[in-house]
Amino acid sequence: MVSRSYRLLSKTLKIQGRELKNRIVCSPISTNSASTRGEVTPSIIDFYSTMGNSGCGMVVVGASSVSQEGISTQNCMRVGPSYLEKGLIKLASSIKKTGAISSLQVFHVGSQGNTNYTGQPVLGPSQYVCPDIQISVKELSRQKIIEIEDDFVKAIVSGFRCGFDFIELHLAHGYLLHNFLSEHFNKRSDSYGRSAKNRLRIINNIFEKVRRINPKLIHRIAARISGNDFVPMGLTIEKNKGLIELLNSYNIAYWCVSAGIYETAKMKSDYMKQGAYWQYADKLKKMTQQCGATF
Ligand SMILES: Cc1cc2nc3c(=O)[nH]c(=O)nc-3n(C[C@H](O)[C@H](O)[C@H](O)COP(=O)(O)O)c2cc1C
Repeated sequence: MVSRSYRLLSKTLKIQGRELKNRIVCSPISTNSASTRGEVTPSIIDFYSTMGNSGCGMVVVGASSVSQEGISTQNCMRVGPSYLEKGLIKLASSIKKTGAISSLQVFHVGSQGNTNYTGQPVLGPSQYVCPDIQISVKELSRQKIIEIEDDFVKAIVSGFRCGFDFIELHLAHGYLLHNFLSEHFNKRSDSYGRSAKNRLRIINNIFEKVRRINPKLIHRIAARISGNDFVPMGLTIEKNKGLIELLNSYNIAYWCVSAGIYETAKMKSDYMKQGAYWQYADKLKKMTQQCGATF
C-alpha cells in the first residue's frame, strides 16, 4: 500500500508548460564516460535511456562542462562548441523517447579542478587549495571571468538548441559558480567579491546575457544550490537568501537542493541520515514562497 505522504509522487507536474508524468526525478549523475573531447558516447545514451525507461518523470543529465578547462574528470561531458551538438541532440531525443522530461546540468569545476585532467591551471575566484587535490588556484582576472560567463551562455543556448527541456545550473558542491557565491572560496575585493550582492554578479550576468539572446530561455533555466557547505564561512540555506531572491526574480524553472563541497564530502551522508536535506528543501520552499514564487 502506498503511504499517504508518497501519493503526490505519482501525480503529474507542470513546469513552465512542460508536463512531468510523475514527480520522480533522476538526480544528475556524471557517468565519466564521454570521449576525451567531451562528446556523448553510446554508453551515455544507454545510461540515461535506462533511467528514463525506469519510469521517472524527469532525467537530469550529470554535470557537463562549459569548457575544456572546466572538466572535473578525464571523460567529463561537455557542452557549448558546435562539434558536441550531434551527440547532445541524440541524448536529448533518446530521453524524450522514454516519455521523460530532460534537463542538462552545466558547470565549470572551478577551485576543485585538477591540472592532471585539464592540462590547465586550476581557476577560481581567489586563492584556495582543495585538501584532496593539493593544487593552488590561480585567481581569475576580470577578463577571464567575462569569458567564463560567455562560455556558460554558449552552453545554455547550445543545450536548448539540442532539445533539452531545461538547463540546470550547478551552483553547489564547490564548483565554480558556487565558489563565487561562498565566502569560503571567494575572498575577492573587486566587483565580483566583497559583498553579498557582488558575489551574485557572475550568475546575474549569465542570466542577463541569456535574456539578451532570447528572454524566453531564462524561465527554462533551473538551479541546484547548496543547503550547507559544512564550513564556517560557507553557505547555508539562509545565507542563500540573495541568490534565491535573484533567481526567483527570473522565474526559473525549478530548484534542487544539495550540500557539501569536496573537503566536507564525508559529512554529507551523516547529514543525509539526520534528514537535514529535507530541512534545507523545506526552508528553500518557504523562502521562495516568501519571494512570491509559484510552485
Ligand atoms: C556517481 C555519482 C555521480 C554524481 N554526479 C553528480 C553530478 O554530476 N551533479 C550533481 O549535482 N550531483 C551528482 N551526484 C549527486 C547525486 O545527484 C545525488 O545528489 C546524490 O547521489 C544523493 O542522492 P542518492 O542518495 O539518491 O544517491 C552524483 C552522485 C553519484 C553517486
